[in-house]
Amino acid sequence: MKNNELIRENYTEYSLNELEQDCWNRLVTGASKSRNPFHTPSVATISKGEVSMRTVVLRKALPLERELRFHTDIRSTKWDELIMNPSISALFYDAEDRIQLRIKGKATLNHKNEMTAKAWETTSLSSRKCYLTLHSPSSFADASTSGLSEDIEQENFTLAESKAGYTNFGIVSIQIQSIDWLWLNHAGHRRAFFDYSDGSFKWMIP
Ligand SMILES: Cc1cc2nc3c(=O)[nH]c(=O)nc-3n(C[C@H](O)[C@H](O)[C@H](O)COP(=O)(O)O)c2cc1C
Repeated sequence: MKNNELIRENYTEYSLNELEQDCWNRLVTGASKSRNPFHTPSVATISKGEVSMRTVVLRKALPLERELRFHTDIRSTKWDELIMNPSISALFYDAEDRIQLRIKGKATLNHKNEMTAKAWETTSLSSRKCYLTLHSPSSFADASTSGLSEDIEQENFTLAESKAGYTNFGIVSIQIQSIDWLWLNHAGHRRAFFDYSDGSFKWMIP
């Protein structure tokens, strides 16, 4: 194969329904493959009229439920922002396939429930570390620090000790309201809008 271009999908031939299915295939793959570009979306929240963005790891994409999930520390700023205002947006871009998804939805916060218990069980020791800082994420420190004790930093802790982190472990579940799909193409871009609030799928001018 001379050129990657030859094996790229030609999305001009897709119907709206096929494109929507393609969005979900990409999200499901993004959640399961750590090297996939859809694995680490930017997620935006609103706090007192100001926008905050950050990168998160996409942990689950559920097509039937039209739901996305990511894990976070319930002491983090975003958690409080979402309590105040559940509006949330997630931005994905696959540079190779030149596909952007702009997703809007409402967040539901999960803490110490069946969903978090199940996810915590399969959370590795190194990921559990993130929930074991003595002080809350975003608190200021006197010097450069991970916020972890030396033992925990070196992963010298037992599974039982790591359970303390469960208290700080939360799952943000995004109920998707719309997906704005954009494909960049040299002969002319393409754009579509999937609105789950009224069930309409529409083409847009890019
Ligand atoms: C590649 C990458 C993945 C990240 N994944 C997560 C994540 O899944 N959950 C999370 O809370 N923070 C994650 N972070 C850290 C956030 O981007 C952010 O810095 C932190 O959560 C504080 O955000 P907040 O102050 O808005 O709450 C990640 C950062 C990077 C660079």
